[in-house]
Amino acid sequence: MSRARLVLMASAVALAAALSGCEGLGEPKSDMPPLPASATAPVTYVRDIHSYAQPQIARVKHVDLDLTADFEAQTLSGTARLDVTGEPGATQVILDTRNLDIRSVADEDGRPLTFALGEDDPILGRPLTITLPAFEADEAQKIVVTYSTRPDAAALQWLTPAQTAGGQQPFLFSQGQAILTRTWVPTQDSPGIRQTYSAEITVPEALKAVMSAEMLTPDGEAASEGQKTYRFRMTNPVPPYLIALAVGDLAFAEVGEGVGVWTEPSRLQAAENEFAELRQMVDAAEGLYGPYRWGRYDLLILPPSFPFGGMENPRLTFATPTIVAGDRSLVSLVAHELAHSWSGNLVTNATWADFWLNEGFTVYFENRIMEAVYGRERAQMLQVLGWNDLQNTLADLPPADTRLRLDLTGRDPDDGLTDIAYEKGAAFLRTIERIVGRERFDTWLKGYFERNAFRPMTTDGFLADIRANLIQGDAALEQQLMLEQWIDQPGLPSNAQAPTSTALAAVDQAAQAFYVAKGPASAVPWRRWSTQERQHFLAWRPTGAAASRDWLTPAQLADLETTLALKDEGNAEVLFAWLQIAVAHRYQPAVPTLERFLTTQGRRKFVLPLFTSLWAEGDWGRPIATRVYAQARPGYHPVTSGSVDEVVGVPAA
Ligand code: BES
Ligand code: ZN
Repeated sequence: MSRARLVLMASAVALAAALSGCEGLGEPKSDMPPLPASATAPVTYVRDIHSYAQPQIARVKHVDLDLTADFEAQTLSGTARLDVTGEPGATQVILDTRNLDIRSVADEDGRPLTFALGEDDPILGRPLTITLPAFEADEAQKIVVTYSTRPDAAALQWLTPAQTAGGQQPFLFSQGQAILTRTWVPTQDSPGIRQTYSAEITVPEALKAVMSAEMLTPDGEAASEGQKTYRFRMTNPVPPYLIALAVGDLAFAEVGEGVGVWTEPSRLQAAENEFAELRQMVDAAEGLYGPYRWGRYDLLILPPSFPFGGMENPRLTFATPTIVAGDRSLVSLVAHELAHSWSGNLVTNATWADFWLNEGFTVYFENRIMEAVYGRERAQMLQVLGWNDLQNTLADLPPADTRLRLDLTGRDPDDGLTDIAYEKGAAFLRTIERIVGRERFDTWLKGYFERNAFRPMTTDGFLADIRANLIQGDAALEQQLMLEQWIDQPGLPSNAQAPTSTALAAVDQAAQAFYVAKGPASAVPWRRWSTQERQHFLAWRPTGAAASRDWLTPAQLADLETTLALKDEGNAEVLFAWLQIAVAHRYQPAVPTLERFLTTQGRRKFVLPLFTSLWAEGDWGRPIATRVYAQARPGYHPVTSGSVDEVVGVPAA
């Protein structure tokens, strides 16, 4: 056995020891069953085209941040101390950076180390190559990078007090996935290179810092004048895209044992009520696929500019306030982010080409949680809504982009963020479940999470695991599953089956009566319907030869808007579905509602399609898009504005 291998094995043993228990204050008690030996075997690093790192030569094992948040300058500055191991004799480590000001690089005694920043790539950023004394076997070297972020760091959004609910204090949050962590932390930013981390974050004393980690100082510690320092540690190794930070006027409420919500004080009550069933969700998830291995599970409800619905930062899911609907109707998003605590955070896509392993498994798991907690009918409705989104995506995308395993050569991993990974991935797993039966499927999936916990997974690794542990040489079953077609062919294989929902079949009837037979909106049982039924009703579109760009008359649009009280609609998903209809019909009376929606939240899933449809409406929509975007853009996160810029262009200042 080579010496390098010994180093890896030694660190794997230390890792296993660290994983076997939860320590620290406020940890829920749990007896964590040990992981199987496979989970501590050495990792083989695969090539990740979205990182400059060369982990087979030297890799970051631990990141220790000491950063100060300066809200005036809109910078985080300080140091990242990295623990690096390397192959014996190796004299270089390469980190990922993008848009960082690197002040110095030194060893742990402060002696400067030679470093070089390479060419700047618009997607990947710049490699930071650091020269070190030759590594010896078993040796970890410490590197201290002193640096500062830029005000336009793509992972960070600095909010003014006016952009928060409280209106008094500024706010900061990070969004690392997919390859944005390198815009605030100089490290090896590849999902296959797991790192533990710790952090000291210094902020103005009126604010609180939270991270995707265990909080060691709930009230902070006095720092220099007017400042407080918060300390954190994450003892499970995580991919860098899961390192996350938020700073603001934050309050916390526990909603069950080991679970709670963080948000701005004025929103706490609403959030507490919305997510009162959080503990049941975690129990359901553990009941399905094994222990939750991260200690606490909390939610952070962010200000409305948060660019995603949710982000599965370990121990602390970040979520948009648009899911706080008042009636718990959009909590499947929480089930989704919670499910990532297994699919994604335990078993992690090795590269962004394998993104479906994170998201497809998660959508499948999310639906199982929803079924367990809210019943089969609700779960079926969610499946049908997802399946319909998938059909639209399949119709829109070039066939090559409808394969589960992606070729992202020369592309931003963001391009892989389509319903293919999510909904085709989930449909794939449902197909396997249907063919082998739920019990056998669940046994395999639970085992998959255990065998591969805290490890990167490739699509080939998935195939090997399912063949070894589920198919087990059964040639007839292998043929029936059509694994390779699902993974590498466009579209849907012949064994895919559309989900059905009794409730939504009834909605289809009402939709026919309204849209096709031109009945009155008053005949639509809108008030009796759940959010999912309403969404389905508004997502109805004409098909085949009857399809026309305008499927409603102005009188029908007015009838809908008035009878269903859509001007006062508070549910973001329902409102979004309505506004898509309104824009497609150039329905002027809805423009104020549209304008309000686009300027009061910045979730890309809502904002981007609406600007895109407006733009498609030429001389009607483009002036509206331009006017509204000029107003909305300063409030959007770089992730959202970056995407909308490509459609509408950057408004003149
Ligand atoms: N991990 C994703 C969000 C993400 C993916 C951010 C890729 C950046 C790059 C998260 O789990 C997610 O899928 N969020 C969805 C909600 C979900 C219910 C489908 C979202 O934000 O809309
Ligand atoms: Zn997800």
